[in-house]
Amino acid sequence: MLGTEILGIKFKNPVFLASGIMGETGSSLVRMAKEGAGAVTTKSIGLKPNPGHKNPTIVVLEDSLLNAMGLPNPGVDEYIEELREAKKRIEKMGVRIIGSIYGKDEDEFREVAKKIEDYVDIIELNISCPHAKGYGATIGQDPELSYKVCKAVKEEVKVPVFAKLTPNVSNILEIAEALVDAKVDGFVAINTVRGMKIDIKAKRPILSNKFGGLSGKAIKPIGVKIVYDLYENFDKPIIGVGGIFTGEDAIEYMMAGASAVQVGSAVYFRGYDVFKKICDEIKEFLIEENLKLKEIVGIAHE
Ligand code: DHB
Repeated sequence: MLGTEILGIKFKNPVFLASGIMGETGSSLVRMAKEGAGAVTTKSIGLKPNPGHKNPTIVVLEDSLLNAMGLPNPGVDEYIEELREAKKRIEKMGVRIIGSIYGKDEDEFREVAKKIEDYVDIIELNISCPHAKGYGATIGQDPELSYKVCKAVKEEVKVPVFAKLTPNVSNILEIAEALVDAKVDGFVAINTVRGMKIDIKAKRPILSNKFGGLSGKAIKPIGVKIVYDLYENFDKPIIGVGGIFTGEDAIEYMMAGASAVQVGSAVYFRGYDVFKKICDEIKEFLIEENLKLKEIVGIAHE
């Protein structure tokens, strides 16, 4: 009932693990696949090992998280050793793998994409980390840099390439248009919103990086609006992400135009079985309304 297809790739359900949580190791990805995710997304992988920022890197807020981990990862060569084993187990469960990658320029992106391609079903370009200087949103806020990175990766790999967009821009459609010109296959929207939390006793920001990316319930309406606008303007599949905790949240994103959704913060707030819970809630709605999953995608535009 929840089986779906995006660009010819079959998914057992449209509720995926988002990048950044439980995607640091092969075994944590396997665990999330066992918990019922339709696809699992790696933590963003770069060319070289990166220890990330020093603590504190995360602040837990009410229904939301603020984090600036600093893109920590073991580097692509070591990570694909992890993926080699994990891939067999994840594939057996009929779950897909999305490889999130980052780099400082198109050459780094291209190199990481080439190395990871054989281990993933989709490549997700993290051009939208809200705080990494020279990386992330430095690229995703600039149409020309976004174009260059996407074009380089598209020329290098055969798997579909999705770009994860930052909401921290004045005109997201201009960025999306540049990516479409570079032949992007789809969008993931949205990455986190820039934010800060101050400890009033210490009289300074809590995060070692001072500011970070806000995820969780607070950002859902921002994500839904962006997905709605992307659907309205482009004919590309969209994976919705940002504050999805329940079936109702997932359905909102799908009605705005998302073919599937990713869940991050809710893994923390609702537990590892959040994928099964959201799938059950979507099913219940579809039965109640006598609708098929495909029929709700973009229905809010009719
Ligand atoms: C980090 C990366 C992100 O893409 C994001 O949205 C927030 C934090 C990080 O690794 O610091």
